[in-house]
Amino acid sequence: MAEVGRVLYGREDVRRRVAELGRTITGEYVGREPVLVTVLKGGAVFLADLMRAVDLPVEVSFMAISRYGDAEESLGRVQILLDVELDLAGRDVLLVEDIVDTGLTSRYLLSVLRSRGAASVELCTLLDKTVRRIVPIHPRYAGFDCPDSFVVGYGLDFRERYRNLPDILQVDDLAALRADPDALTSYAPPAA
Ligand code: IMP
Repeated sequence: MAEVGRVLYGREDVRRRVAELGRTITGEYVGREPVLVTVLKGGAVFLADLMRAVDLPVEVSFMAISRYGDAEESLGRVQILLDVELDLAGRDVLLVEDIVDTGLTSRYLLSVLRSRGAASVELCTLLDKTVRRIVPIHPRYAGFDCPDSFVVGYGLDFRERYRNLPDILQVDDLAALRADPDALTSYAPPAA
């Protein structure tokens, strides 16, 4: 495990940062009832923690999309598999993402949500890989400015693995993980 990946943000860092984001969002949306929209599957873990850190009446909704190509390539060509069931007209919508990489997915989803007549649409991402950006997407809320490495854990996967890791791992040897997608399964999180 040591040479394939290592902890980038431990569970305690994540817990602290999510609590801070929750406080900031609570302060900025006070008096309103935002709709938190998350993209399955990666965003589900972050949403579950973030919504409990927001001290306001919130509604949640989910989208699912498919990308053409591997998540690691994130080509930005997107098809909606599951759409928001709520009427977003006049609502304050917060798109909650696990990670913004090139920005192509967020740009597409933000334009879809804006087309639904929302009063406001903002973006909150746990991880912001600003160095990889190819379109100008600037999340209003970002947990961590993420280095240019592939990361897994806390909802983020490599070929559907590792979403349940409580820590966020940085993959140092992506070629090794491609060759053996289970290479990080021996990762043993330290006792809480
Ligand atoms: P974007 O369209 O390039 O911003 O890609 C966003 C999507 O690519 C995310 O929602 C993830 O599903 C996936 N992705 C990008 N970087 C990573 C990573 O480091 N680990 C896991 N998934 C990633």
